[in-house]
Amino acid sequence: MDIEAQKRQAAAVAVEWVKPGMKLGLGTGSTAKHFVELLAERVHKGLNVVGVPTSEVTRALAEKVGVPLTTLDETPALDMTIDGADEIGPDLSLIKGGGGALLREKIVAAASTRMVVIADESKWVTALGAFPLPIEVMPFGLAATRRAVEAACAAAGCPGPSAVRQGKDGHAFVTDGGHWILDARLGRIPDPVTLSAKLSQIPGVVEHGLFIGMAQAAILAGPAGARVVERPQRAQS
Ligand code: A5P
Repeated sequence: MDIEAQKRQAAAVAVEWVKPGMKLGLGTGSTAKHFVELLAERVHKGLNVVGVPTSEVTRALAEKVGVPLTTLDETPALDMTIDGADEIGPDLSLIKGGGGALLREKIVAAASTRMVVIADESKWVTALGAFPLPIEVMPFGLAATRRAVEAACAAAGCPGPSAVRQGKDGHAFVTDGGHWILDARLGRIPDPVTLSAKLSQIPGVVEHGLFIGMAQAAILAGPAGARVVERPQRAQS
């Protein structure tokens, strides 16, 4: 089974967890895309659900395949968010934002009773940080914010350079919220909770891609099939 088939299998398990009447957060990325497509198949067979997309890309997909949509303004409390991740640690702490949607993803996940991560096994890691940490920032004052971000990473025990993400047009990648992204190459994050707190204190940082204590379960698919990992009880929120 190739990686794409593994992603689809994880998404297929998650679709089975959806109950009639649920209000759903719809994630962003290639794995979440499979989920939205498979959810649409159930919707066409009569399943009554409504979703809040975490990006304009997911909104366009959901509209195309026929998943009914709402907003957090109309529906501020969701039952379950299904989303992908770039890295998943043993306590289900995550790095997200490889697709640039981390801000809306975190808002939607925080508005949900339950967050379920779907991924292929390659996303499972013993420690976060090999994947560059996405940090959404205001374009104003970028150099000062970047300096503060790098100081915060060093103070949290993971020094490393950060760089503005580039879009396909050769200019800075612009998020759905009109912000830019710094990708921080940290290698290994020994204390994600401390780093999260330090980054959140920087005024020019809009949000960062560490999702700690948010995911309750992960559905991981590998060549031998899918497995479910529940978050250990003592993880912080
Ligand atoms: C989007 O901003 C990200 O958080 C994605 O959820 C993450 O990059 C996983 O994407 P894939 O499912 O495409 O690997």
